[in-house]
Amino acid sequence: MTDTARYTARRKQLQALMQQGIAIIPSAPEVVRNGDAHYDYRHDSSLYYLTGFSEPEAVLVVIAGEMPQSILFCRDKNPEREVWDGFRYGPEAAHAHFGLDAAYSMAILDDKLLELMSNQATLYYPLGADVQWDARVIRLREAVKAKARNGVRAPSEIRDVREPLNEMRLFKDGHEQTLMQRAATISCEAHRRAMRFTRPGQFEYQVEAELLHEFCRHGARHPAYTSIVAGGVNACTLHYVGNDARLNDGDLLLIDAGCEFAGYAADITRTFPVNGKFSAPQRDVYEVVLAAQAAAIDAVQPGRLWNAPHEAALRVLAQGFVDLKLCQGSVEGVLESESYKQFYMHRTGHWLGMDVHDVGEYKVADQWRPLQAGMVLTVEPGCYIRPSDKVPRALWNIGIRIEDDVLVTAQGNAVLTQAAPKTISEIEEVMRHE
Ligand code: GLY
Ligand code: MN
Ligand code: MN
Repeated sequence: MTDTARYTARRKQLQALMQQGIAIIPSAPEVVRNGDAHYDYRHDSSLYYLTGFSEPEAVLVVIAGEMPQSILFCRDKNPEREVWDGFRYGPEAAHAHFGLDAAYSMAILDDKLLELMSNQATLYYPLGADVQWDARVIRLREAVKAKARNGVRAPSEIRDVREPLNEMRLFKDGHEQTLMQRAATISCEAHRRAMRFTRPGQFEYQVEAELLHEFCRHGARHPAYTSIVAGGVNACTLHYVGNDARLNDGDLLLIDAGCEFAGYAADITRTFPVNGKFSAPQRDVYEVVLAAQAAAIDAVQPGRLWNAPHEAALRVLAQGFVDLKLCQGSVEGVLESESYKQFYMHRTGHWLGMDVHDVGEYKVADQWRPLQAGMVLTVEPGCYIRPSDKVPRALWNIGIRIEDDVLVTAQGNAVLTQAAPKTISEIEEVMRHE
């Protein structure tokens, strides 16, 4: 299937889910970083998902019903700006290249939207995602209403376009699975490279540089999220991104890093000893987290509920926390009282796709939803032990998370990130320096 056919099929699927009405899907805004410098532009995932178009200042309009249409509004060609900033399609070339029914200049967006919204019963729109767009769309709807005397009807219903769209994005087709596997494989290579590189005395940012180097040299120009490179107790700060401390002999290093490749994210965490050899206490905690992760991955099966991996991980962690004297009482008691939350305070995963915390509902009709083939999720149990009189001293400053990306298949699951070393023997082997 060509790219154009793929995106056209997705728009048709959206039209079928909408049944009737008009959908307005704006691109992401460009954001100033400081002065006249901008953050690197990142397209809106949903607009890209439906078109393959990744320029800023664009809007996709999809009309469902008897006269289905897909219309893109984009920047005009501008030879002078293109000398400075590079190629832009312009409406004419975008129309031809992206298989759209029409494409127009952003300069006439409001006028055209007044026309296109007229006599549509339902307006689909990402309501609340951007206040400026909210105001603009509501104003346009009011302007259509003002034409009532001419017999024009404005949409009487506004629905969130993300409801049908997110449900589509939750199921990854074969092409998406291939891209996600590539993002995962590059990210695995980056973790392996980081393990080979790490030595006591280096700074966390030096290890981060190795990750970024590996991403970039494979064409994954950006990380999917800010890399966490956390030595020792820094690993107990879940979203530590300072990445500026020196790595100590005897500490663990937790790395949570994944690249974005062709618009798809990988999300991997590995934890390994800075000096290449796990100490006995580190080994004990690591084996508990690894066993919890194995149990959770086993629970990723079509038909099992979303929460099954989390519950499987919790049971193994609770037993481990009792054995390690981190928690007191029975496993049932630890689960019941949630005393495990002192050491494991996050959930075991999330959907993964174009966004690292990808779209898609976790519950349907108030029940955890069953896993189905084509869904991709992370499985990422952990254990974070800050210094405290209440825990054995030997376990202080141990922060461990192990995170893989898992595709639900018809038969069970496929771990996309299995090339990143994970067992103690695999890690120590990779880190053995000549
Ligand atoms: N890297 C973000 C997460 O693991 O959810
Ligand atoms: Mn994650
Ligand atoms: Mn992560």
